[in-house]
Amino acid sequence: MEKEPVEVTIIKGGPIHVKGHFAFKDSAGKVETRDQELYLCRCGGSSNKPFCDGTHRKTGIKE
Ligand code: FES
Repeated sequence: MEKEPVEVTIIKGGPIHVKGHFAFKDSAGKVETRDQELYLCRCGGSSNKPFCDGTHRKTGIKE
């Protein structure tokens, strides 16, 4: 069975969307998630870094 390639998309005014089959590791190498999809914060305002928590909707992101 062939796996879908990982797709990374920068959402205009929003987070980075990662979709596919992947392991996401923290800076210590611990696997945080093996989800098929996640959203990474790129505004710096999330209270749940490195994941987006929707704060960018209030603070905005300069493109
Ligand atoms: S990009 Fe969504 S909280 Fe930062």
